[in-house]
Amino acid sequence: MAKGKTKTRYVCNECGATFPTWSGRCNACGSWNTLTEERITTTKKRDYTQTATTVRPIPITEAKKQTDQTRLSTGIKTLDNALGGGIVKGQVLLVSGEPGIGKSTLLLQVCSNVADKNKVMYISGEEAGHQIYIRGERIGAVKENLLLLPETNLETITTAIREERPALVVVDSIQTLFSPLLESAPGSVSQVREASTRLTEVAKETGVPVIIVGQITKEGSIAGPKVLEHIVDTVAQFEGERGHSYRVLKVIKNRFGASGEMAVFSMEDRGLKEVANPSSFFLSERPVGKAGSVIFPYTEGAKPVLIEVQALVSKTVYAVPQRKTQGFDINRLSIITAILEKELGIFLKDRDIFVNVVGGITVKEPAVDLAVATAIVSSLRNKPVPNNLAVFGEVGLTGEVRSVYYTEQRIKEAKSFGFDKIMVPANTDVNDPSLIKVKNIQQAVEYIDG
Ligand SMILES: Nc1ncnc2c1ncn2[C@@H]1O[C@H](COP(=O)(O)OP(=O)(O)OP(=O)(O)O)[C@@H](O)[C@H]1O
Ligand SMILES: [Mg+2]
Repeated sequence: MAKGKTKTRYVCNECGATFPTWSGRCNACGSWNTLTEERITTTKKRDYTQTATTVRPIPITEAKKQTDQTRLSTGIKTLDNALGGGIVKGQVLLVSGEPGIGKSTLLLQVCSNVADKNKVMYISGEEAGHQIYIRGERIGAVKENLLLLPETNLETITTAIREERPALVVVDSIQTLFSPLLESAPGSVSQVREASTRLTEVAKETGVPVIIVGQITKEGSIAGPKVLEHIVDTVAQFEGERGHSYRVLKVIKNRFGASGEMAVFSMEDRGLKEVANPSSFFLSERPVGKAGSVIFPYTEGAKPVLIEVQALVSKTVYAVPQRKTQGFDINRLSIITAILEKELGIFLKDRDIFVNVVGGITVKEPAVDLAVATAIVSSLRNKPVPNNLAVFGEVGLTGEVRSVYYTEQRIKEAKSFGFDKIMVPANTDVNDPSLIKVKNIQQAVEYIDG
């Protein structure tokens, strides 16, 4: 390694901004306590000028020739669909998720499928070859074409990709890689940024698609900077609850397809099994005729899934009533509770309220508001909603029900599963006898009250 000058700098874990001195708050993004110290050694800059002379701009019509129209299939149909039809040449895909959720399992399965016809390389900085073998044996991924590289040195890895030119590379995980050119520890912001930039360079140069595993903290941020999400082409989040077998892979950014798509899996002995029909899967254990359970057609992409939202409202024994949620933002629950109290004159200050989105899915879209509100009222009144009712709509601060995206798709999905009463925002532009159009939360509750 070339001898260089060693300096100290402070990097924000949230946004990746760097500062010469420490402070409690990042001046770039405003986050508190996110600056960490890093020692960097500046070495000779890479020489970019040499390549610059050989590069010429080309007309976009010419660029078409360079695209390889065929996408690489992951061998898992729902995953291919979520990615917009498979993996594109040179694509860099980040798969992030909490510890133990099944990232390595899923990607080893993908490697195994691709290895049926092509050479694939699974690079692991977390597990040794024999550990991967044990998992591989359990899920049926022991194949001649599946190459293992237990390695963390970025230089070795990029060289191996250039030399082997496999059809697909999986890097598990980005936080374990390090470049010897930088002095900071693996997992630090600058190492993560360097590793992802370099892997992206190799992917674009060789056309080899690279899937990067990213560890995620319980708070939901990808360990390392947000910068990572900008660098890669596609970001997929792997979610689920421990103790449940459901796993959902959500595509939250995609340069080669629609974002918001998702694939649903169940975790089994032999690895992850795709769930071809998620709606019926999530509805299969729904209690019949129970208060506090409401069906919500959920989507952040074009394909909705019917999920069950549950609320439990009970008399509190505490001075301050409890508010707990799973799969739903707790602050949003406070807002909905406040709206219900103000607009309907319901008294909830002596009630504990629990909200649960069944199946380990985390719903961030506001369309779920009305389902949560109706589930709370249903539980409070101990009055089940009609069994064939599905509900969606955003609730505003004055209790008005506002329209949301993908209205038609949600209605279609609900109807195809026999939900022929669908509560929707009043200005929904669809005429259908099964729609119950509500202007505000009062009208919604009047309907529930019958
Ligand atoms: N023998 C088994 N039978 C069924 N499920 C298993 C078995 N062994 C492991 N699992 C499941 O696989 C999960 C671990 O999966 P995996 O190692 O792919 O997760 P990961 O997301 O890569 O975790 P990490 O972040 O720690 O690398 C376990 O939490 C468990 O649910
Ligand atoms: Mg793993």
